[in-house]
Amino acid sequence: MYSKKVMDHFTNPRNVGCIVDADGVGEVGNAKCGDIMQMFLKIEDSIIVDVKFKTFGCGAAIATSSMATELIKGCSLENALALTNNVVLEALDGLPPAKIHCSVLAAQAVKAAIGDYYKKQGINPEPIVGRIVSCQGCED
Ligand code: FES
Repeated sequence: MYSKKVMDHFTNPRNVGCIVDADGVGEVGNAKCGDIMQMFLKIEDSIIVDVKFKTFGCGAAIATSSMATELIKGCSLENALALTNNVVLEALDGLPPAKIHCSVLAAQAVKAAIGDYYKKQGINPEPIVGRIVSCQGCED
């Protein structure tokens, strides 16, 4: 049902934890299933030099958070903003259809954290990051 990569990132998630002096913090949640994802970013010269996450949720949500942090670590903010749920899905060799919404949550958490960073810089994040919408697709 789950790919080897999903199982690997679920059982051995990368970058778990929080960054106390984070430059950007994003939190998104799914009202239906109750999953909550927090993303913490350390940013220097528009590069994500460190990232940590905490996910209170299903295994697919944990695996997608873990993979998302690996994909954006070391990236420019511009490239990190280009992260889509499809990129996360491909990197994990897919998820069962009923779990696709979990990857949306991870991409949104990254955007929310970058948006928070811009807000802290006194910059309106909406034209750059777009509207942050928590995953609404969970049928679990
Ligand atoms: Fe995975 Fe809702 S986000 S079950």
